[in-house]
Amino acid sequence: MPRADRSSYRMRRPRSCGECLATLSGEGSRTVSFRSKNWVLKSQIGFGAKDSKYIHRCRLKYAVDIRTNMAITKGDFNYIRDLVRERSALVLEPGKEYLVESRLGPLATKEGFSSLRHMVESLRSSPSNELRRKVVEAMATNETSFFREIRTFEMFKKTILPELLTLRRSDRSLNLWCAASSGGQEPYSFAMLLREHLPSLGSWNIKFIASDISQEMLVRARAGRFNQVEINRGLPANLLVKYFEKHGATWQISQDIRCMVEFREINLIHGWPFLPVMDVIFMRNVMIYLDLEMKKSILRKTSRLLSPDGYLLLGGSETTTNLDDSFESVSLDGATYFRLKKRIT
Ligand SMILES: C[S@@+](CC[C@H](N)C(=O)[O-])C[C@H]1O[C@@H](n2cnc3c(N)ncnc32)[C@H](O)[C@@H]1O
Repeated sequence: MPRADRSSYRMRRPRSCGECLATLSGEGSRTVSFRSKNWVLKSQIGFGAKDSKYIHRCRLKYAVDIRTNMAITKGDFNYIRDLVRERSALVLEPGKEYLVESRLGPLATKEGFSSLRHMVESLRSSPSNELRRKVVEAMATNETSFFREIRTFEMFKKTILPELLTLRRSDRSLNLWCAASSGGQEPYSFAMLLREHLPSLGSWNIKFIASDISQEMLVRARAGRFNQVEINRGLPANLLVKYFEKHGATWQISQDIRCMVEFREINLIHGWPFLPVMDVIFMRNVMIYLDLEMKKSILRKTSRLLSPDGYLLLGGSETTTNLDDSFESVSLDGATYFRLKKRIT
């Protein structure tokens, strides 16, 4: 098997678009490709006039090292699209070739292939489950942050938690499930919030399960280590001081908070393992990537797992409307939760 030039991925990946290379005129937004040293860069560039100033906004979409051969052919793109859809229900529309190149290029290099073509060839000829798993994981979007969509956390603190504490005051037991926990920021944010706002936490029996399809994300989440950029995204300074310890360049969340969350591998599109009836299900920013039928199927399973008086929290742009009519939505101060229509209170 041809080996990739290892020096290629030791080179620092460019961080900016190289805007100076793009000639901009008029107003609007467009995707621009250009070459900079050893990289082909593709950026979304918006430009126009605002408050008498010329505004230029740029988002680097992907960067491909042209010394490696990481362009994808139509046939290989279709193969990856089908594989990813079958295993995770993630939809890759035509036009997402750049996403496949930018996410699988580094994986191919890491796995020792000199081109994407060679990696796909290997997938086709010897269906190694391990490589397939890595491909599917690499194609997932793991974007997350502490206290992401802060209004949801405010709603949880001010409304959901007090209601739950009243509803469950006799058995003092709560079951929570964070169903797409990525690197752990989301479940740890809720765990810190519980620690801060449930003074008698010690006398409650709390089962907090967090899960994801990605083994790599689960390893990171269990370790509870975050780099400075991750820490800077959404974590208030008082919680950093209170619950994190510095280890070299990273911060580790305290054992106390880590112990509150049990991380498990669960692929939402397959049959779910045994889980207790849940008081709260956090299923945020994952269904947005999945196809329509899969969204319906996941919501059907969710409606069976959720306690009749439980709460479902979705991402800001997600809903149950037109997908599952057993839910109704409740909006409060810019955030929304979903509950079963036949609610028992
Ligand atoms: C965009 S992140 C959202 C993370 C977090 N919930 C948040 O809102 O910040 C989506 C996560 O869903 C996971 N994921 C994608 N497909 C999945 C599936 N079929 N089953 C379980 N998790 C999946 C990805 O691995 C990724 O970690």
